[in-house]
Amino acid sequence: MRKPVIAGNWKMHKNRDEALQFIYSVNMQVPNKEYVDSVVCPQAPLLRDLVKRQGDYLRIGAQNIHEESEGAYTGEVSADLLENLGVGYVIIGHSERRAYYNETDTAVNKKIHQAFRYGITPIVCVGESLETREAGDTDTFVRGQVKKALEGLGSEQVKRIVIAYEPIWAIGTGKTATSDQANDAIGVIRETIETLYDASVSDDTRILYGGSVKRKNIDEIVNMPEIDGALVGGASLSAKDFLYMVDAALKTVS
Ligand code: PGA
Repeated sequence: MRKPVIAGNWKMHKNRDEALQFIYSVNMQVPNKEYVDSVVCPQAPLLRDLVKRQGDYLRIGAQNIHEESEGAYTGEVSADLLENLGVGYVIIGHSERRAYYNETDTAVNKKIHQAFRYGITPIVCVGESLETREAGDTDTFVRGQVKKALEGLGSEQVKRIVIAYEPIWAIGTGKTATSDQANDAIGVIRETIETLYDASVSDDTRILYGGSVKRKNIDEIVNMPEIDGALVGGASLSAKDFLYMVDAALKTVS
């Protein structure tokens, strides 16, 4: 039984006041982390404030890290600092970072290794463009991204990683992949992990769906057999909606 994860990706939203308001509404409400992992990922300058107020069960994640531990990399954030602040998760390889900041598969792989070096759980995003899907190349493309992302990782690390399947055409567009499309792509990711490692690893790896997840579709998504939760953008900005989604995940295990 894989423990579900609901992770909110706030992207470049919320100032400090708004973030604190959110955290005070949810930090005592999220379920025990024995059953569901509830994570929010704010902009980097808010990490410390939110970690201090995360309560017993909520966890805070970053949206990116640099692959090196320190150095002359103006504007970047190190995993060393994140560990120091008590940040538990980091989103790596989000399609926005791949598209706007030229984040390559090689960089994604290095960042995953770096996160593990500091005991931070990576939430690794993969997913195809509309063009790739329409050309019928989704499976090959996603398989390739997963292989490159996992290069050099040991079985124990892959069991701890969280992968998010996020078809680019569904992010922020209001177009959700159908639960069958999401389940199928996630099945392909799991098979890829099984081929690279073995079934005991692929059975343990948590794979989320992301892309226009909202209150209205969360129940269907978290009830699909291959899907272990969601990476939620826009809808995670609302404390009520976030709690609704965490509860939907909780219902699948209780
Ligand atoms: P969305 O974003 O839920 O707003 O579509 C998802 C994501 O980018 O992780």
